[in-house]
Amino acid sequence: SLPVPNVQEMVMRDPLEIPERYLRNKEDMPKSAHNTSHLSSQIPVIDFSSLTQGNQEELMKLDLACKDWGFFQVINHGVASEVLQGMKDAAVNFFELPLEEKNKISMPPDDIQGYGHAYVVSEEQTLDWQDVLMFIVYPRRYRKHRIWPTKPTEFNEMVEAYSSEVKRVAEELLGSISLAMGMEKRTLQKMHKEMLQALRVNYYPQCPMPDNVLGLSPHSDTSSITILMQDDNVSGLQIRHQREWVLVKPIPNALVVNVGDVIEIWSNGKYRSIEHRAVTNDTYTRLSYASFMAPSDDVEVEPLDHMADSQGSFQMYKKVIYGEYLRESMKRRMEGKAYTEMA
Ligand code: SIN
Ligand code: FE2
Repeated sequence: SLPVPNVQEMVMRDPLEIPERYLRNKEDMPKSAHNTSHLSSQIPVIDFSSLTQGNQEELMKLDLACKDWGFFQVINHGVASEVLQGMKDAAVNFFELPLEEKNKISMPPDDIQGYGHAYVVSEEQTLDWQDVLMFIVYPRRYRKHRIWPTKPTEFNEMVEAYSSEVKRVAEELLGSISLAMGMEKRTLQKMHKEMLQALRVNYYPQCPMPDNVLGLSPHSDTSSITILMQDDNVSGLQIRHQREWVLVKPIPNALVVNVGDVIEIWSNGKYRSIEHRAVTNDTYTRLSYASFMAPSDDVEVEPLDHMADSQGSFQMYKKVIYGEYLRESMKRRMEGKAYTEMA
């Protein structure tokens, strides 16, 4: 990433200043989601406990959620609220450290791991109103200790506790999605080879012009699935649905799950990797915590035969090598969606 101003620092120095580079054209300005609140309350809510006990109705709900929304909220997942809160507190404590302390693990120019501002590729690019902290959690041997926070001291322990629970939830959900796709429970998980899990903490300070500034540009996730924890009291995540931007209203302790590009391809487009973005607000700092699950770099990702067969044997997507796909997507990240290449 190119070096860009630290947003948190900027807001601290002058809460009313917004450099030109953050302001958006009228066309891609956030459309108010006020008139879509009826849609907001329809985003599917999946009962994890019921799902994993084999409830067929819940499995149907999951299938529909992945088809029609690409997003759902998960309740009764069994992750202790202390674990969720522990992760949140550790992250807040990290972001409250002095800048020079945080910069000790600043993102190297050719990496998206570490502390900084990801996906900055050009001087002209409109910037997002956020700072990020991102790193690979699993497999453990991929952890880069150079960019891993050592402060606050409990950080490591909290990430471990949270991420191992996210992993459990993710594997169960992949199991259910596997069943919903008519396969054995473990098939999707096995197709990852060695599953990768990365954590990205997004820090969005308050912004004096929320109608002209986005916290995070529209994109779809390159993951298989993403599991997101958001603040209970401050919303900001919006998803594309029926050509509207729909706000994902926080449900306390729920996890937000979305289908990523990899499952869109495996399912031959039956399940959708939906475009989403984060908006800003002028009053509160918001944090969100995204765990990305992904296959090994050398996995060849292509539509599954039986999924294509049910659609007249037509493969909607070209085969890609996951690692190449990931790097290509990052390069194009600033252009938004549409890098799942149609066959
Ligand atoms: C993301 O898309 O990674 C995060 C969106 C959010 O902040 O809710
Ligand atoms: Fe995302």
